[in-house]
Amino acid sequence: MGKIKVLIVGGTGFLGKRLVKASLENGNDTYILQRPEIGVDIDKIQMLISFKMQGARLLPGSFNDHRSLVDAVKLVDVVICAISGVYGRSHQILLQLKLVEAIKEAGNIKRFVPSEFGSDSGRMGDALEPGRITFDDKMVVRKAIEEANIPFTYVVANCFACYFLAGLCQLFQFMPARDSLVFLGDANQKAIFVNEDDIATYTIKTIDDPRTLNKTLHLRPPKNILTQTEVVHIWEKLIGKELQKSTLSKQDFLASMKEYGFEEQVGLGHYYNVCYEGCLANFEIGEDEEEASKLYPEVNYTTAEDYLKRYV
Ligand SMILES: NC(=O)c1ccc[n+]([C@@H]2O[C@H](COP(=O)([O-])OP(=O)(O)OC[C@H]3O[C@@H](n4cnc5c(N)ncnc54)[C@H](OP(=O)(O)O)[C@@H]3O)[C@@H](O)[C@H]2O)c1
Repeated sequence: MGKIKVLIVGGTGFLGKRLVKASLENGNDTYILQRPEIGVDIDKIQMLISFKMQGARLLPGSFNDHRSLVDAVKLVDVVICAISGVYGRSHQILLQLKLVEAIKEAGNIKRFVPSEFGSDSGRMGDALEPGRITFDDKMVVRKAIEEANIPFTYVVANCFACYFLAGLCQLFQFMPARDSLVFLGDANQKAIFVNEDDIATYTIKTIDDPRTLNKTLHLRPPKNILTQTEVVHIWEKLIGKELQKSTLSKQDFLASMKEYGFEEQVGLGHYYNVCYEGCLANFEIGEDEEEASKLYPEVNYTTAEDYLKRYV
């Protein structure tokens, strides 16, 4: 493919900015969709300018302007979308249908990586309501991609470490506890934690890899497949202190959900699926799928222990 031309949509977002950085570091011709809707958001504007100074090209375009999306897409080989999919912040997954339409019309894209980067939506049909909406919407996008015959890779990134690992799987806690914590059920379901920068590195690695064409790429760094109990032990060793523990049973967890609003319930659903149901690691990767640490052993991924060291 030569020097790859990559368009990153959502490039100022939490994951998007890491994708831009990884793409630039990889030497790709890196383009970022510059949406007029960011208006006077000075942080976003300055971030875009900083990326421009590092060699990225800013392409004006809006989800409200089909032609602008087609024009942007026509300039590149690969499109990666990291549009928001988090309730509480913003959930715009279905907007990608407009991007799919643009990619279909442009007809030149060799790989599209839609905004997945979580649990494998294809395996989340039984996820707890109302959190299931995240996966249902991502499946609507997958269907549109496949019906349009757009070459794709779905990146199943599992848990962003900053949300689940850093908080020791405590509900809505993003810093590790220092005195006491709550075990979710028996705390023995394996989850998979991935440093957000590593998610970006693996994603950029895969965009011109024929082995992942029209496949799902699972990120399963072997040392980061851990139960909540194991995560807590790592943390206790790092701070040299044993925490006080209590347990929240599945029944009590489900009963307590009623006290929350819709957005929180979506988030709680993800904790439930991961920590009570073990949805991330309770299946083997199929023969028609790939695993990132096996495909790219040269990536020196961040172990859970190293990730947690920054919080000591
Ligand atoms: N597995 C996990 O633990 C986990 C955790 C968090 C997120 N995720 C997934 O990762 C993906 C990216 O999430 P994120 O947290 O990085 O997203 P984010 O920071 O909330 O937002 C990313 C970008 O979405 C774009 N966006 C937001 N609202 C928009 C709108 N109304 N119209 C057009 N664009 C809009 C913005 O792009 P601009 O830069 O153009 O302004 C924004 O920077 C999602 O699929 C999400 O579900 C997974």
